[in-house]
Parts: sequence; C-alpha cells; structure tokens
Amino acid sequence: MAATYNLSSAALSSSSSAFFSHSTFSVKNPTVSLPGKRVGVCMCVATSQDSKTAHKTAVSRNENMAKLQAGYLFPEIARRRNAHLLKFPDAKVISLGIGDTTEPIPDVITSAMAQRSHALSTLEGYSGYGAEQGEKPLRSLIGKTFYSDLDIEEDDIFVSDGAKCDITRLQLVFGSNVSMAVQDPSYPAYVDSSVILGQTGQYQKDVEKYGNIEYMRCTPENGFFPDLSKVPRTDIIFFCSPNNPTGSSASREQLTQLVQFAKKNGSIIVYDSAYAMYISDDNPRSIFEIPGAKEVAIETSSFSKYAGFTGVRLGWTVVPKELLFSDGFPVAKDFNRIVCTCFNGASNISQAGGLACLSPEGLEAMHGVIGFYKENTSIIMDTFNSLGFNVYGGKNAPYVWVHFPGRSSWDVFAEILEKTHVVTTPGSGFGPAGEGFIRVSAFGHRENVLEACRRFKQLYK
Ligand SMILES: Cc1ncc(COP(=O)(O)O)c(C=O)c1O
Repeated sequence: MAATYNLSSAALSSSSSAFFSHSTFSVKNPTVSLPGKRVGVCMCVATSQDSKTAHKTAVSRNENMAKLQAGYLFPEIARRRNAHLLKFPDAKVISLGIGDTTEPIPDVITSAMAQRSHALSTLEGYSGYGAEQGEKPLRSLIGKTFYSDLDIEEDDIFVSDGAKCDITRLQLVFGSNVSMAVQDPSYPAYVDSSVILGQTGQYQKDVEKYGNIEYMRCTPENGFFPDLSKVPRTDIIFFCSPNNPTGSSASREQLTQLVQFAKKNGSIIVYDSAYAMYISDDNPRSIFEIPGAKEVAIETSSFSKYAGFTGVRLGWTVVPKELLFSDGFPVAKDFNRIVCTCFNGASNISQAGGLACLSPEGLEAMHGVIGFYKENTSIIMDTFNSLGFNVYGGKNAPYVWVHFPGRSSWDVFAEILEKTHVVTTPGSGFGPAGEGFIRVSAFGHRENVLEACRRFKQLYK
C-alpha cells in the first residue's frame, strides 16, 4: 500500500537532510511521486517567492549539478524517516537503512588515538601537516596487511580520509572527457561524481539512467556479474566487490574476465573493496590477486566498515606505477598531483587509529566487530528466507538484498516503514536494476536487529 506523507514546511526545515538544509523549502504539489513511481510523497522545491525576494549573484549554476536527480539517496531516506517520525512521534524507529556502523570502536584502537591526541599537547609529540599521501609506517602496514605477496609497493598506497572522497578525487584525475561503466545497481557515489564532473548526458527519466554511462546489469539471473560480452567499451569501469547494495562478491574467474576485458579495451578499472574483510569464502579480497591487474586497475578501500571508522575517517587507494594513460604517463603521478592539490593528508589521529587497527590485537578486534555484523546478517537472512522471500548477498557482505518481484522498491520501503517503523533502503535508489529489491543493512545493535526481524515476521507472515 502506498503511503502518503502530509508534511508542513516546518517539518521540512527540521529535516536532518544535508541536501535540503540551506534554504527554505515548502511543499509543492504533495501528490508528485519522487523518485518511486507509485509512492505518493512530497517533493521539496524552492518556491518562486524565494527567488523573487532573494538577492541573486551573477554566477550561473554548474549545469552538471543541475543534472543530478532530486537528492542523494540517503538524504532522501533521512527526509522520509523524519516525516515518518512526525506522523508517528512515539514510534521506535529502527534504522537498517543507510549502512552506517553502530558498534563501538574497540578500545585497543581508540586508546592509540587518545594517546596520539594527548601527545599533540606536548612539544615532542606535536605534529602539523603530514605527508599528503599518508604516514610511511601506515602505508607500509596497509601494504603488508592487505597486499602481501601481491607486489604492491608502499608508495603505490595513498592514505586518505575515506573511499568516498577518493572516488571523487579519482574522477578529478580522469576529467570530463571519459566514458564510464558501473554495475547496476551500485553505490551512488560513482554515478553522481561522474555527473558532477560532466562525464554524462542528461538523466533520461524513461529508462532512469544518465546518458553516456554504461549500466552493467547485475541481477539474480546473471549471478550479479555482468555479461561482459554485451558491455560496450568505456574508459573507466567502476566495480565494487563485495557489492553494495547486492551483497554479492565476484569470484576469481569473474574478476579474471573483468581484468581481461579491461586490458582488451584499454580501460581502467576502479575497484572498490570497502567490504573485502567481510568475505568468508575463497573469493579474492583484492583485484591485485588477479594476474595483470596492476596494468589496468586502481583499488580504493576503507577502515569505515572494518573498525567503525565512518566518523573517524580513514581509507586508502592503491594506484600501481604500472598503470599508464594512453600517452604513457603514470596515472599515479596525476593522482598524487590531485591529492597534493585538494587534500592535506588524513588526520594524524585517525592514522594512529589505522596503525592500531593493523596491529595483531587491532586485527583481532576488527575481526570481532565484523563477525558481530555477520551474525546480524545471518539473522536477517534467516528471517526473510523463513518468510519465503528470495534473499541474496549476506554471505560476504553486511547487506541483504531481498526480492519483492513485481513491486516498486519505494512502495516496499514505504510499506515497511509505515507498518514496522523499520528504515530499509529501496533497491531502485542504486540503479534501475535494483527495482523490486530492498537492501537491509546488518549494521545495528543486536536487540534492534532482532526486534526488526520480529516486526518483519509479523508483517509478512
Ligand atoms: C561501496 C562503498 N564504497 C565506499 C564507501 C564510503 O567509504 P568511506 O566511509 O571510506 O568514505 C561506502 C560506504 O558506505 C561504500 O558502501
């Protein structure tokens, strides 16, 4: 059943959505559907009154920004969650939506950060700007921990404030004149950064795609790996494994196909391995496990989902020296130039945390946190399996991808929110091939996951 939210402009201004936070908005045409096709929701737009009274600069809006659709997926979900809270002020809303971590950072890691932080108050321990590429001991330890025997050198590794920021920095390296492919569905930052950089055409509402992006369909029918024989050549291929949102991870054979495909086409793969530590079978943890990958791939990764660093901020990107542009210029040199221009290095305190994460005790503690979320995943998968749904992902990732054949994802999202007060994520928000699915995140306190599953059972029994 479709939900209709009755919002007042006061309600909207109390929204936590960053997307809507700077201006005054009011509700216009409350029956407009956005972005789900059949869900009646309010659309927020600046009123004409705003534009009449406000001073306007002479600066024209970046036309690429204007191409972006409605709001970034998660602010849109936050907006709907807030609207729901206004309607049901006493509801105990449980969020299994955005994919933010919930469990405390292990003490062995926070202690190291506290120590570094206190040292900053001493003459001997103070440090200011560090190397833009990250501290050498951390680069070296990332190499030893994640890329041992893969011939990745310390200076191929760039420490950063997170994988999302690196995705946009990589787009700055590539510029506006490249074409790109993404898994469909995929983490929204690839497509949105591509739009912002001007690599795409306009959004085509009929197909729910931007022009000049190849959407590589990943569905149960193809085992969530695209049929590469049908994918046209692009300059850049974004590939995420284990995948957010489908939770599937690619096998060695599939990644070998991908690397060969990139080599044949002269493409660059940007491989996002932000969930690699969740893999519990033999699937590769890094693209560099595949022979030849260093000539065609970049890998970006993160401490966010391993150690609860979503707020601390620490990640890294590997750009091998062997990766060259068509004129023979190393991609790593341009990446270094971008990093030095728009980034002043990850926080020294987070880097101390990163070093602690990769100590023997820190690694054990991170495995403990990941194990906890993996148990949550099993609880969620068992619940939907017991209700007769087709359930995907989960095994190698903290995301469960549940199929509701023939239904709109936003309808299902609204139904679950309205009837169980649980926030999920509509699959279509990750691309058109996500239609008919919802993503349930395993990031949550155990009692909340158990309670959400009880409510799912009541709704769908
Ligand atoms: C696939 C993927 N890549 C990158 C990120 C962002 O990572 P970070 O917190 O390091 O910016 C996320 C966060 O949800 C993600 O799902």
